[in-house]
Amino acid sequence: MKQIWQSDRVHEIKRVNARFLGIGAAIPDKVVTNLDLESMVDTSDEWIRSRTGITERRVVSDDSSTSDLGTEACLAAISSAGIDPEEIDLIIACTSSPDMIFPSTACMIQGKLGIPSCAAFDVMAVCTGFIYALSVADAMIRTDRYRKVLVVGADAFSKLIDWTDRNTCILFGDGAGAAVLEPSDDGGGILNSYLKADGSGWDQLYVPAGGTAMPASADTVQNKMHSVRMRGAEVFKFAVRAIPEACTEVLRGTGHSLDDVDFIIPHQANQRIITSAAKKLRFPIEKMPSNLDRFGNTSTASIPILLDEMWRSGALQSGQLLITVGFGSGLTWGANLIRWNGPKFVGGDIN
Ligand code: COA
Repeated sequence: MKQIWQSDRVHEIKRVNARFLGIGAAIPDKVVTNLDLESMVDTSDEWIRSRTGITERRVVSDDSSTSDLGTEACLAAISSAGIDPEEIDLIIACTSSPDMIFPSTACMIQGKLGIPSCAAFDVMAVCTGFIYALSVADAMIRTDRYRKVLVVGADAFSKLIDWTDRNTCILFGDGAGAAVLEPSDDGGGILNSYLKADGSGWDQLYVPAGGTAMPASADTVQNKMHSVRMRGAEVFKFAVRAIPEACTEVLRGTGHSLDDVDFIIPHQANQRIITSAAKKLRFPIEKMPSNLDRFGNTSTASIPILLDEMWRSGALQSGQLLITVGFGSGLTWGANLIRWNGPKFVGGDIN
């Protein structure tokens, strides 16, 4: 038996980890400020800024979807990688707000990119999506079957929000971020990942209707059951536990400690969550960057948008040790440990 298996092998598994070859982001033009929200719901700029750190967020136009944003981010990542789209052999998309229940948003993006034939699928871990997708991409590259993997986090939460619900409409924004990954040639890149889920907490953050548990009906539309429901205080407490756990666990067994880490790049949900997690970890808050004042919580896109901004500003330097860490509905949480050996920045601004 053993001999047959060995002779059947078509690929020698080399276990070479993944590195970033390119990175890009897409942000919609339309800005919704806290002052705009004051005229829509019973809230105030002061309340939103002091409770969340958010000042404004971006939203897509009515005729634009998650895959439009994702495609734009992918084009930017492919361009910074300096490759042709046809070289991509796998697209992994993560989103909390897919264009449709099916097909996958990855396939929609593949079609829009005009890549004739590659594999494409979605990873669903809501706001932890990019952490999960990086881990899956790294694992696929380690099989030696995929050499250029496009990972994209894209979300248009503005289309899932009840804009009369002040508990949720103040938090979210739209955006997309993408990365091209390839086998690393120097041992740097994604060194480790830690992924977790606790399905018993599914009802802390969810969209009730539109799936098989509660198919769309006149009632579900009338009762706004296609919009996000959230138990904010519980999610807050979970997040403040999840970030330190994931950062600690992703370092375990790697020979690195928090002292070696140059940046923790956290999911951008609430500045108070980031600050509390930094305190719990005793990690300098200056090394936990944030841009949520301008973009709000862009769900799966928040980490790659921030990575893209850091890369374009020159903050990311070769050899730095990074942790990307996320949490979200599911409940899900996790982290990636990355030795940055990404592309050299050659100029250009985020749009
Ligand atoms: N404007 C003004 N007041 C608001 C408000 C708003 N937008 N939203 C809620 N309030 C009110 C509440 O009704 C409550 O009033 P009450 O005391 O009279 O009952 C008061 O403000 C405090 O509400 P509370 O929910 O305790 O506020 P909070 O400090 O927990 O902040 C969140 C609320 C949602 C900002 C916070 O819980 C949070 O960020 N949670 C995490 C959410 C998250 O990150 N989700 C995505 C995860 S990926």
